[in-house]
Amino acid sequence: MQSFREQVESRLADVLDRRLAGAQPRLADALRHATLDGGKRLRPALVFLGSLVGHPWPDSEDERLESLWSAAAAVELIHVYSLVHDDLPSMDDDDLRRGRPTLHRAFDEATAILAGDALQTLAFGELAASSADPAVRLDWIRRLAEAAGPLGMVGGQTIDLSLAGRTEDHPDLATLADLHDRKTGALIRTSLALGARWAGLPARETRLVEDFGRLLGRAFQIQDDILDVTGSAEALGKTPGKDAAADKCSYVTVAGLDGARRELDDTVRHAHAALWELATLGADPQALSACLEFVTQRQH
Ligand code: IPE
Ligand code: IPE
Ligand code: MG
Ligand code: MG
Ligand code: MG
Repeated sequence: MQSFREQVESRLADVLDRRLAGAQPRLADALRHATLDGGKRLRPALVFLGSLVGHPWPDSEDERLESLWSAAAAVELIHVYSLVHDDLPSMDDDDLRRGRPTLHRAFDEATAILAGDALQTLAFGELAASSADPAVRLDWIRRLAEAAGPLGMVGGQTIDLSLAGRTEDHPDLATLADLHDRKTGALIRTSLALGARWAGLPARETRLVEDFGRLLGRAFQIQDDILDVTGSAEALGKTPGKDAAADKCSYVTVAGLDGARRELDDTVRHAHAALWELATLGADPQALSACLEFVTQRQH
């Protein structure tokens, strides 16, 4: 992951250099502040992992991998846009992100809104301009639009905000699962799916990869909810304790810390079941299983 993160960093820097030539310097600075030098880069890694299901590890010099980088960059650009907007005063009103001031703090609110908008268009521009097969490119665009849009991430963020202040109404766990599947799971699932689509994985295997990805995303967000109460600003690079302070409906605020851990274990069990089913079709589940462990053991 360490060497992969360095590659993601230089790919993203290239994308910004290429696409921001001639842009307003302040906007370009804001986009670099939000995008570069930080983050786990999980979603780009999932694009590559998705492409490997049912295939041997390719030589990293394999030139066909080049076209996959546009999908890896695109999912990270959408993710960064979601973080920039998530931190805005009208949303979670956060001051710290990836160990630095949030974009609206370092610049101003209008710049943060516009930078988020720009990150989204940059993502789709990257997919459209990819050297991947045109049918793959079109499918990528459709899938990413659905995952990021009103039925996916934006829909999940809408539910998240509408449930704030309503922990006393005790939303049930199915409502929370739906919230997490949309606001976080959709992009994580789709990152795997973009890689699988690129590699031509058959429909049945792809469906199982997506089932796994949805559960991986849910586990990821449950762990995020847990870290909000157990983590420190130093380790997280963001301010802890925000969910309770904003009366957000997280797994912890609704089910308690033990309840959240139980739900996490349960989600992991279901994710393993999807992996075993994938293994019965001949795919090696080891890399995805390691990824699940990374997501649930992470401390930031
Ligand atoms: C944070 O995502 C937002 C959530 C969906 C919980 P990450 O924890 O992947 O953030 P970075 O990219 O590593 O900063
Ligand atoms: C955000 O969830 C999910 C996104 C779509 C960005 P959170 O609001 O819990 O993410 P953090 O804790 O601020 O990173
Ligand atoms: Mg939020
Ligand atoms: Mg937030
Ligand atoms: Mg959080």
